[in-house]
Amino acid sequence: MSEKTIDRSWIRREPGATPRLEYGADYNPDQWPREVWDEDVRLMRRAGVTVVSLAIFSWARIQPAADVWDFEWLDDAMDLLHANGISVDLATATASPPPWLTTAHPEILPVTRTGETVWPGARQHWRPTSAVFREHALRLVDAVATRYADHPALVAWHVSNELGCHNIYDYSDDAAREFRLWLERRYGSVDALNVAWGTAFWSQRYSAWEQVLPPRLAASHPNPTQQIDFKRFSSDALKDYLVAERELLRRITPEVPVTTNFMIMNETNGMNYADWAAEVDFVSNDHYVLPGEQSRDELSFSANLTGGIAGHRPWFLMEHSTSAVNWQSVNLAKQPGELFRDSLTHVAHGADAVCFFQWRQSAAGAEKFHSGMVPHAGEDSDLYRDVVRLGETLRDLAPVAGTSVTPARAAILFDWESWWASEKDSHPTQLLRFRAEALDWYSAFLDAGVRVDVLPSAASLAGYDVVVAPVFYLMPQDTADALRAYVEGGGHLVTTYFSGIVDENDHVWLGGYPGALRELLGIRIQEFGPLLEGDTVALDNGTSGSVWTDRIDLEGADALVRYADGPQSTRPAVTRNTVGAGSATYVSTRLGPRGLAPVLAEVLELAGVESELPEPLRGSVELAVRGSADSEFWFLVNRTAEPVRIDGIDGEVIVRSVRDDGPALGSREVLVLRRPVTSTD
Ligand code: GLA
Ligand code: GLA
Repeated sequence: MSEKTIDRSWIRREPGATPRLEYGADYNPDQWPREVWDEDVRLMRRAGVTVVSLAIFSWARIQPAADVWDFEWLDDAMDLLHANGISVDLATATASPPPWLTTAHPEILPVTRTGETVWPGARQHWRPTSAVFREHALRLVDAVATRYADHPALVAWHVSNELGCHNIYDYSDDAAREFRLWLERRYGSVDALNVAWGTAFWSQRYSAWEQVLPPRLAASHPNPTQQIDFKRFSSDALKDYLVAERELLRRITPEVPVTTNFMIMNETNGMNYADWAAEVDFVSNDHYVLPGEQSRDELSFSANLTGGIAGHRPWFLMEHSTSAVNWQSVNLAKQPGELFRDSLTHVAHGADAVCFFQWRQSAAGAEKFHSGMVPHAGEDSDLYRDVVRLGETLRDLAPVAGTSVTPARAAILFDWESWWASEKDSHPTQLLRFRAEALDWYSAFLDAGVRVDVLPSAASLAGYDVVVAPVFYLMPQDTADALRAYVEGGGHLVTTYFSGIVDENDHVWLGGYPGALRELLGIRIQEFGPLLEGDTVALDNGTSGSVWTDRIDLEGADALVRYADGPQSTRPAVTRNTVGAGSATYVSTRLGPRGLAPVLAEVLELAGVESELPEPLRGSVELAVRGSADSEFWFLVNRTAEPVRIDGIDGEVIVRSVRDDGPALGSREVLVLRRPVTSTD
């Protein structure tokens, strides 16, 4: 088969197979006696499981010693699953090196910033840049791929597991060597590095490459550009490892798609997934909720962003939890309805697979109190019954499979490098949270009942009437130019405090903040005014701000809202500059979703963007839309603790998370309607 004719955009299915949503889990049969496996497949079939991720942590079992291989158990598991119609997303099993390897080669163990060795005993104790690790890992990949290349259960390769979950930052000598090579490729010469890193400061000037180190424990703030480059390098180093596994897999099984599970969730930020996405055949994500007021919105935000980096093609929800996890300080069980709501929210934002960690809850080990699809209580449990019912629901949702997310008219830009750079030490405040600001905007859109796409910052803005770029701190000239062109073309841009401050080397754009956007925004800031923890300032529209203020002078913009007290009292807090048919709005303080509401409402009105929901549903219901050529699927998720009446929306009910016919959608319930495509021309 030639490269051209191979479609690796999704897990392999028989030609002509009916489209479906996949359903399943990580499956770890090697933790259980053989007789349990028969029980497993019986319960999987009852639940409608279609796919499992197998052998993720099985390196020590598959290769018990350097030259000893034990595949019989895995042959057995693969055959058993296949005989029961369950396909396998087979792991390369490289996630956690076995004790014989770390004993023979302790030089593969990561080193922390403070010089401590990360010892074996948990998992993922390997240096991304270790040539020794890579040699052994690729030998395993080769053996696994060669053995199962033609196995009929194999539908995709699962590279390693959550690359970077525990080992993204390694400060070892291997890392130092590779970091220097990476820097040489980026800068070409030590002189250019000196300029980029601003080493005239604090006597940091380098005269040879071997003097350059990762930002290890230092006496005071390590060089900021060194820190950002180390983050860029660390993300690239693991991406390079992913590519190494993928290339080997491609050589052995060119027709089998390769994926790896990303962690787009909460504050996980070491891996630049916008950049990694191009290296996998389809995007997979893991998501776990943290308790808190915005936790449901956070899930939706993460799912939306995952769809954004997947280019709105279907993606694979590789892991989430049926109920509690084990790694938070208090691990809450899911409330009735949350399993459905969470799963369907991912589907609403483009997931064509709903999978869990893990199939059967472990009896031993660090994750024995982490929920699974089959809990300790066994099949006679509400949880397993819910799992069976979720399987039925996903079958009902089969018409959605393969459809794309229907683009919204508004977008939130999410910039990984600004996330890294804006939260560094030695800044005006340590209270700034990049992702929290972006999430506040997302909640404000949900409160307004207006759909919004969360996009990687390099995405095309064509077709978007409103673009919000929160805390876009690190702004190269070409990004600033693209935003200007967007506004000049009639777009409505909104940005916030600490945006457009530095270039790609973390050098300040001089002449008054925010240098990269000053003209476009029509403002000039001479000094920042961060606020102490817990302090707030009143605004003259009745809302209040926290975390940040700016001392703004207007240079063409209008003040929409002013500070009513605090150090900037009477000065502008929110400004707008009209540029041709477009506009550029600036919000200089953290307003939170409620404070953002009036600002957002004005921008939406200016841009002519309206909610697609009937008025009474706005805010209480999240709407997400997927579409094919002839149908649109409307996912309506109740965001509130109260029932919401669903009136005024036509459509054929495909799924209702609680099966009654009433017009009300209970708390945490989801309704999916199929509607004919409405032509806009
Ligand atoms: C000390 C140092 C200076 C500078 C200031 C910053 O005074 O001597 O070099 O770092 O702190 O407050
Ligand atoms: C991650 C890992 C899994 C498991 C879960 C627990 O997602 O990939 O192996 O540890 O966390 O929540």
